[in-house]
Amino acid sequence: MAGTSSAAPAAANVFAYSDRQIEQAAAMLWPGAVVRLGVHTPSVTAYVRRVQVDGRALFAKVSLLGLSLVSVLRGTAGDWAQVRAAQVAYQGSPGTLLEREARGLDILREEAGVPACRVAGHQNGVLFTEQVTGPTLADLLAKDPQRTGELMTRAVVELTGLQRPAVARKVDEAAITERGIGSTFDRKFNGISGPTYLRKAGQAGDMLSTLVLRLRRLRPTPAAGHRPVVYGDLKPDHVVFPDGADGRPVFLDPGLGRGRPQADPAKLISRTVLGLIASAPDLVTADATARGIEEFTDALTADLAPGERAEWLRHLVVLWLMDTTNILSTYLTSPPDLPLPEHAGKLTARTERVCGLLETTSAGLAAGTGPRAVWQLALAGVVKATNR
Ligand SMILES: Nc1ncnc2c1ncn2[C@@H]1O[C@H](COP(=O)(O)OP(=O)(O)O)[C@@H](O)[C@H]1O
Ligand SMILES: [Mg+2]
Repeated sequence: MAGTSSAAPAAANVFAYSDRQIEQAAAMLWPGAVVRLGVHTPSVTAYVRRVQVDGRALFAKVSLLGLSLVSVLRGTAGDWAQVRAAQVAYQGSPGTLLEREARGLDILREEAGVPACRVAGHQNGVLFTEQVTGPTLADLLAKDPQRTGELMTRAVVELTGLQRPAVARKVDEAAITERGIGSTFDRKFNGISGPTYLRKAGQAGDMLSTLVLRLRRLRPTPAAGHRPVVYGDLKPDHVVFPDGADGRPVFLDPGLGRGRPQADPAKLISRTVLGLIASAPDLVTADATARGIEEFTDALTADLAPGERAEWLRHLVVLWLMDTTNILSTYLTSPPDLPLPEHAGKLTARTERVCGLLETTSAGLAAGTGPRAVWQLALAGVVKATNR
């Protein structure tokens, strides 16, 4: 039966199948080329592997049914035979997730003037992109936390071209709705499956259940009127600086769509804070990063009137907490045979600290404390959560 662990596909089967798909797709795209599979990049979302095609360095990505790997390996889409059969049908249908992702990468570069990794090919459910080399925003923040505010602001400013009218029209035809903070939160926690799901999160499950209820009440009503185009998956790992910290960044793994203006900053802040907590930094680093994050939100809200600024921050904080709840619970409930990114293990070892931060920050909002005060307390809480 779908959803039970006995029927869930094994990671080894999914990976072996994906490798064959990558080899077959490469052979179709580049007949006669020498194809070498390189190392696997652990991800909870897609199967990603480096590949050399006639010496050219590429990344190959396979997404089963447009679902996250965690969902597939948990048995959400049935057993392995069912998933494979469904994938054949999915791949042949228009508008698959990777097709929209490839389109999004082209829109970024060609319509929005945003540097993004180049699509090398898209075939048989496999997306090949050209490797971008250089330190990521995550690397730079760890190395030079004093530059946090400036680097985060520059990353977001670099995405300004997304608001061109021609871009919005094209994005609407290829929107990736699957990866939004709100849609992910709903998918994970809504309805009858939510409580069952969180029970798998161990001791933290109870705390996260309470938090989910609170966040649901705090969540802003759907925005009326203009909804800007958002990058959609703005993580510090997805922003690469090939020419170092002073050069222009290049973006990876977009999830273009419409959203709130706070969606991209919220994800960037959420993942930066989790990276910081996972890295167990010294106090100076933690302090500089928290200060830089405040500088970043100050820059983004500089033109707003005080009342607007408070509302902006309130939505930012709610989205931040929702994203952190999403990813923490994904890591905590991930099937044991799925290799996780390096920071995930370090983070889950500090689950209590993250939950403490989520709890106090959301309690502040729920109690009606002003958003600016909540935001300042949250940033102080970030520093406290990193304390070794
Ligand atoms: N073209 C690329 N250049 C450099 N690194 C890449 C590229 N594509 C993927 N990666 C690396 O692999 C990771 C996972 O790939 P990504 O496209 O983000 O997959 P997912 O959808 O699973 O998040 C990225 O965070 C990045 O570290
Ligand atoms: Mg990614």
